[in-house]
Amino acid sequence: MRIVIDTDPGVDDMVAILAALAEPGFDIAGITTVGGNVSLAAATRNALRILAMAGRDDVPVYMGAESALDASARHVHGEDGLGGCDWPEATFGAKPSAAVSFLGGMRSRYTLACLGPLTNIAGLLRERLDAAASIDRIVLMGGGFGTHSFSTPSRVVHSQGNVVPDAEFNIHTDPEAARAVFSSGIPVTVMPLDVSHQTLVSRERLDGLDGRVGRAVAPVLDRYGEFSRARWGHHSGPLHDPNVLAHLADGGLHEGQRGEVSVSAGGKTTLVESADGPHTVMTRVDAGGYLDWVWQRLARL
Ligand code: RIB
Ligand code: CA
Repeated sequence: MRIVIDTDPGVDDMVAILAALAEPGFDIAGITTVGGNVSLAAATRNALRILAMAGRDDVPVYMGAESALDASARHVHGEDGLGGCDWPEATFGAKPSAAVSFLGGMRSRYTLACLGPLTNIAGLLRERLDAAASIDRIVLMGGGFGTHSFSTPSRVVHSQGNVVPDAEFNIHTDPEAARAVFSSGIPVTVMPLDVSHQTLVSRERLDGLDGRVGRAVAPVLDRYGEFSRARWGHHSGPLHDPNVLAHLADGGLHEGQRGEVSVSAGGKTTLVESADGPHTVMTRVDAGGYLDWVWQRLARL
């Protein structure tokens, strides 16, 4: 499966990219970066460091748009976006073409795996009217539909939102871009907080990370979990983004509903269910099977 990963790394993005690199079924045509968790420059630096960590300088990186909001999630992902890890700088850089030019030039069909705000994809759809014809489907991490909640020592956590009570970070950061993607006619599968809040990484899971790269990831995920500990009194962080790649590799891990997703001006997502809608919103996941999928691939690197 030929894929492009659009991403704002970000610790969970990092895990998603590494797992994708170890998935034999993926042909990664490129990585496009977007501002979100951290600035565009930091997200691009991190995408390159992640590829360098995996020894994959063959995967091209293309810079996209700065964050549509002056927002960031550095309080979750660390000032550098990778938990302050000491991973070396890449000895290679991003390609000179911009993300929209790269995506607009794709001639063979591919699948878009979107892990951050959708600003690049909206720009592509706006500037290259023929671009949608090359995109088989979009699978994105984003949104919240309020179908899941869990209790922690300090509060009940609902899946409608995270950065604000009724909106999730990727959609909230650029609601207009999300609206453009959902109204594009391209089939979209959504991995919302309803799913990723079921995929919390426990201490036992962290201790089970294996291999050179897996052992390098463990302390970064542990620092990422500090935010959850401080906020929820709950050890671990939700592993949001790898759900997108795991679903593309193994369609049996997640279940959901079809219909049409709408996005409010503030980024709140709502699903109107229908049997033939263009969108699928996942609400259930085999969390153990999902985390096994991720851990097995990290151990291979
Ligand atoms: O709300 C979680 C999403 O926002 C994840 O993609 C995380 O990396 C941040 O981008
Ligand atoms: Ca992300």
